[in-house]
Amino acid sequence: MATPTADIGLIGLAVMGENLVLNMEDHGFTVAVFNRTTSRVDEFLAGRAKGKKIVGCHSVEELVASLKRPRKIMIMVKAGSAVDAVIDQLAPLLEPGDILIDGGNTHHPDTTRRTRALKEKGLLFIGTGVSGGEEGALRGPSIMPGGNPDAWPHVKPIFQAIAAKVDGNVPCCDWVGPEGAGHFVKMVHNGIEYGDMQLICEAYHLLHALLGFGADALHEVFDRWNRGPLDSYLIEITRDIFGYRDPESGQPMVDLILDTAGQKGTGKWTVISSAELGVPLTLIAEAVYARCLSALKEERVRASGILKGPAVESFSGNVQQFVDDVEMALYASKIISYAQGFALMRAMARESGWTIENGSVALMWRGGCIIRSAFLGKIKEAFDRNPALDNLMLDPYFQGELERSQSGWRRVASVAVSHGIPIPAMSSALAYYDGYRSDRLPTNLLQAQRDYFGAHTYERTDRPRGEFFHTNWTGRGGTTASTTYNA
Ligand code: 6PG
Repeated sequence: MATPTADIGLIGLAVMGENLVLNMEDHGFTVAVFNRTTSRVDEFLAGRAKGKKIVGCHSVEELVASLKRPRKIMIMVKAGSAVDAVIDQLAPLLEPGDILIDGGNTHHPDTTRRTRALKEKGLLFIGTGVSGGEEGALRGPSIMPGGNPDAWPHVKPIFQAIAAKVDGNVPCCDWVGPEGAGHFVKMVHNGIEYGDMQLICEAYHLLHALLGFGADALHEVFDRWNRGPLDSYLIEITRDIFGYRDPESGQPMVDLILDTAGQKGTGKWTVISSAELGVPLTLIAEAVYARCLSALKEERVRASGILKGPAVESFSGNVQQFVDDVEMALYASKIISYAQGFALMRAMARESGWTIENGSVALMWRGGCIIRSAFLGKIKEAFDRNPALDNLMLDPYFQGELERSQSGWRRVASVAVSHGIPIPAMSSALAYYDGYRSDRLPTNLLQAQRDYFGAHTYERTDRPRGEFFHTNWTGRGGTTASTTYNA
């Protein structure tokens, strides 16, 4: 048998897989490739892979035989049972110390399960987030690996070579943590992506519906915003979307697109995880539900003829001031969204015993991924100043930014409410901000209600924490309190 020559193997030649292979090859690595429909392998070799150090394989056995030891195989197939099927096929062909890497959008509990199961067989498993779409995979994605730490030194040179670079030559890829930590961080990335996109849509709605801005004016506004604190990939592509016209009709393309959103599930998982950990993730939750509401298109069309709101009247204030206020509302809400997302990662690290370093995550997201932005550089600086920061809002820089932007943010919220424009993400962000900075909330009354109808007990302001009391509110109930427990 010929001496194995490939540095890494990759299974699954859809567009992300193909582009990652080309990126690895471009960085000097020899890559062996396999795809279940083997004609894809031949097409790839005859096309984009032609003349490159790419070894085409027609079976997993051939793939395994072509790899240098310890073997490293990246699996780029649809998340879910397909990943298990590929692992089951490969595992008997491998030797202790070999490495399997799942680069799909896998739900992190599956990655934890696979890391543990493969460890029993002596195999090292990595579950990694890869963000940046097709372009990122080819030119430099953000890569968020977690799993069996013994695998990392073997994979590190390849991953850090192909990852996006920021600030000179710093790779947007580092070890995230054990088990499902890498996929957990990628899930939160996607949740934040949902939040950013919803905030941008709300800004668009306000400028379009209230000020009557069309695609050309919006293109200009987003171009300007992209040169300020909002500078980011998502603002940039939004600017470009407003500049794009349908080749047939000549109309702005954005005006021709149906207002009903799809979603594949990573945003929903993020929200479920926040509920499980008891971390308020209100903005991302609103972003997920805004997509759900948008999908009720027929119901909304019917309701639009039935349910009344404020009469549509044109905006009578200062237009330029309002555009600036919307920029501030978007910016301040974005700070809240990231504060919530990073608080979720901190809670998960605590709960699971994983060491997820928020500063390191901010650096990995600084370039390559969908949420890349200058803003993430500021977040990195905040966690460098205080790695144990409870909430990003408490960092002196962000505290100042929130102070600076909040008058515009509040004006936008009141204009939106009085004109009947829904801004669920921006307004929930403001409610979170006002809630978080309140030393006293109305929850005393809520505790009284719980105790009234269910003897659930309460703590008192004039007694030490941890002592629980019950009141016989009606004189009819007994003195027995229900036990305190959390479901
Ligand atoms: C990325 C993206 C990507 C995700 C899409 C689609 O980081 O490159 O997050 O992984 O699959 O954004 O997500 P939805 O279909 O749920 O919008």
